[in-house]
Amino acid sequence: MKKDIDWKNLDFGYIKTDYRFVSNYKDGKWDEGELIQDENIVLNECAGVLQYAQTCFEGLKAYETVDNKIVCFRPDLNAKRMEDSCKRLEMPVYPQEKFIEAIRKVVEKNADFVPPYGSGATLYIRPYMFGSNSVIGVKPAQEYQFRVFATPVGPYFKGGAKPIVIRISDFDRAAPHGTGHIKAGLNYAMSLHAIVDAHNQGFAENMYLDPATRTKVEETGGANFIFVTKDNEIVTPKSNSILPSITRRSLVYVAEHYLGLKVEEREVYKTELKDFKECALCGTAAVLSPVGKINDHGDEICFPSGMDNMGEITKKLYDTLVGIQLGRIEAPKGWIEVIK
Ligand code: PLP
Ligand code: COI
Repeated sequence: MKKDIDWKNLDFGYIKTDYRFVSNYKDGKWDEGELIQDENIVLNECAGVLQYAQTCFEGLKAYETVDNKIVCFRPDLNAKRMEDSCKRLEMPVYPQEKFIEAIRKVVEKNADFVPPYGSGATLYIRPYMFGSNSVIGVKPAQEYQFRVFATPVGPYFKGGAKPIVIRISDFDRAAPHGTGHIKAGLNYAMSLHAIVDAHNQGFAENMYLDPATRTKVEETGGANFIFVTKDNEIVTPKSNSILPSITRRSLVYVAEHYLGLKVEEREVYKTELKDFKECALCGTAAVLSPVGKINDHGDEICFPSGMDNMGEITKKLYDTLVGIQLGRIEAPKGWIEVIK
């Protein structure tokens, strides 16, 4: 039986669910791993994650579909991206099949927390890994913990499909040859001051520019950008220091193969922003959140799609992607992992 939760009014927050998966890495190998009920972690005071932030994570969602199945969206790509994160952070890789198996177990055991079809909410799944043994010299840990928990969530931005206002940030979230392209916890630590400052000034998010020249659009703290040109073409920024969003890669496919739109992945200059018709943020948490205005140090770039509704092309992309995730539209082969 589904849990007694006010699904329609959930925000993007943490709610403790019944089970989480944990596996430990010691003496060069991962143990079998198990589902446990305790949500707390006891660590040595000198654990690698606490001293030198050796941690990375992933984010994906489970959905109840129109025919009442529970599914996940492209978990293989999360496994692969976590592998890239681990390699860059000198952490051991958690094997892809075991990663997917852990997600399956967590979702299955917490099935009563998967929001019902039509509620607009989803079960957010957070796989993560951290250095767990004591480390005091600057070097990688030798022991690690891999975990997966889940929490039911509503929209990431208040108001759901209502366009948001963002600002161009003077802070960087990544360095030119740093870790912007992987999902390291440290990238998010870097962004906390910028996000608090943005919120204090009334903006929902930061648009970060490329850290080397500050002339090109990168991404926000938790999502990539999609733009629509006046000719209804999709443009999305290409950069070595942004996270390769699974949602963005999926939307590119949807645009080309479902909607017959032309897509360009290329460098996008800040000076071009005023020429676009629509702008949206894409990510697992953000799904596809329309941007109505960008504030550039007091100058406003207002998209013709306005502040009331999603732009027309953004809406088509959104409806198709969500339709695929909720089983209303046939998915490309391999995109949907049926849990039960
Ligand atoms: N960019 C950043 C910095 C993110 O944290 C996320 C969220 O995971 C994304 C982009 C979107 O990626 P995905 O679509 O794989 O969730
Ligand atoms: C996600 O979309 O999964 C993220 O990790 C982004 C974060 C803003 C929650």
